[in-house]
Amino acid sequence: MTTLLEDARTGVTLGLTSVATRGLALMGDPLAQLDRHRPGIDDPFAIMAKIRQRGPFSRSRTGLWVTASHDVCREVLRSKDASSRNVDERDQHPLDDSFIGMDAPDHTRLRRLVSLAFTPKAIGEHRERIANVANQLLDACPTDRPVDLVSAFAAPLPMAVICDLLGLPASERERFFRWGEVLIAALDRARSLDGARQVRLANAELRAYLAAVVAERRRRPDDDLVSALAAAADEGDRLTDAEIVSTLTLLLIAGFETTVNLIGTGTSNLLDSRDQLELVSAELDAHVGNLVEESLRFEGAVMYTFRVALGDIQVGDGAAIPRGATVVLGLAGANRDPAVFDQPDRFDVTRTNAREHLAFASGPHYCLGAALARLEAEEAWRALLGRHPQIRRAGEATYRPSPIIRGLASLPVVLSR
Ligand code: HEM
Repeated sequence: MTTLLEDARTGVTLGLTSVATRGLALMGDPLAQLDRHRPGIDDPFAIMAKIRQRGPFSRSRTGLWVTASHDVCREVLRSKDASSRNVDERDQHPLDDSFIGMDAPDHTRLRRLVSLAFTPKAIGEHRERIANVANQLLDACPTDRPVDLVSAFAAPLPMAVICDLLGLPASERERFFRWGEVLIAALDRARSLDGARQVRLANAELRAYLAAVVAERRRRPDDDLVSALAAAADEGDRLTDAEIVSTLTLLLIAGFETTVNLIGTGTSNLLDSRDQLELVSAELDAHVGNLVEESLRFEGAVMYTFRVALGDIQVGDGAAIPRGATVVLGLAGANRDPAVFDQPDRFDVTRTNAREHLAFASGPHYCLGAALARLEAEEAWRALLGRHPQIRRAGEATYRPSPIIRGLASLPVVLSR
């Protein structure tokens, strides 16, 4: 089994990370183009459409398989033969040893321990606190001159919330931002030796920091997730210290590095369509939920993810992704699949089936923080649009450089007239 995984994963290294992708991209290989696209300059959704034109799934010249079909993505994500493990020693990411990079039964065991804290009901109890944070951030924003909505609002909100939930001091957030930025950029694989060194350093610093917090909570438990995980570990050997630290790293990074993008790009898309902005602002209660879903569908933060086929994976009429294939699942392409979404390239907050998107994936690895992300975005927009229905652009937005995690680096706006 390991050999099969190793063989398959080598494709990731040799394919997507090597200089060769540059040549393949120039030769028109859409997966190589996706890997090399420059957010804000190139259109990844047009590349996804090209991938879809080649059929429900296809083999790229990088050696990897690829799909931008909603059906195929969903089938693979739900297949018991699809592995999330990355066993390529040369291509490890700091999050690989957390449960996002595991298969059953390890995945099931670790995920179950934290999942109680993330049910919609448990998360719903944080609504008021999230609304308060959103309003405090807006109180501090100037209304008569341009403000960068990403750094003033979209980024600090999820950071405050996840720190609160985990029981980490918000005063450390500058360090968390710095570590998070390096570790998320590493998802695109360290492209330089210097980059690789930075990743190792950030990872080591963050883990040392979290290990100290766990030790502290063992001594003095509090009403937070770190204490709960530490307690779970103490009841028999269900969680090792290393597992707790890996889990916390995943929750912290996933907790603030994705929702910021949903709030940023979602607001930007709304600003491009005055009539939709007016519609939502006029009846916030009626529309804010679907604004969240349509924003996730139209420009979700995770462009694609990987799975390795441990056996043939049947997708549709007799076709199968062959055992051993590493398949790139274009979630952002699935969310623009015309077989599921009418006029998929139109941002439409009244779309009735927006919620069928795969922005949070599907199957056993379905985003654990989905309810939290939805709630944060909803409260962010209730506060923002409720107070500033006249919000408008004050300059060009800029994108973060990652081809995998899509989001804005800055969004200059003027909040009031
Ligand atoms: C808009 C915001 C978010 C988006 C678009 C998003 C997207 C995703 C996606 C696509 C996956 C599946 C990855 C894969 O299996 O390959 C995932 C997994 C995960 N997400 Fe999120 N996420 C968001 C917010 C959050 C938040 C706020 C948290 C909070 C802690 C979180 C925690 C996680 C965790 C722990 C996993 C791993 C689940 C597992 O492996 O079982 N996410 N997310």
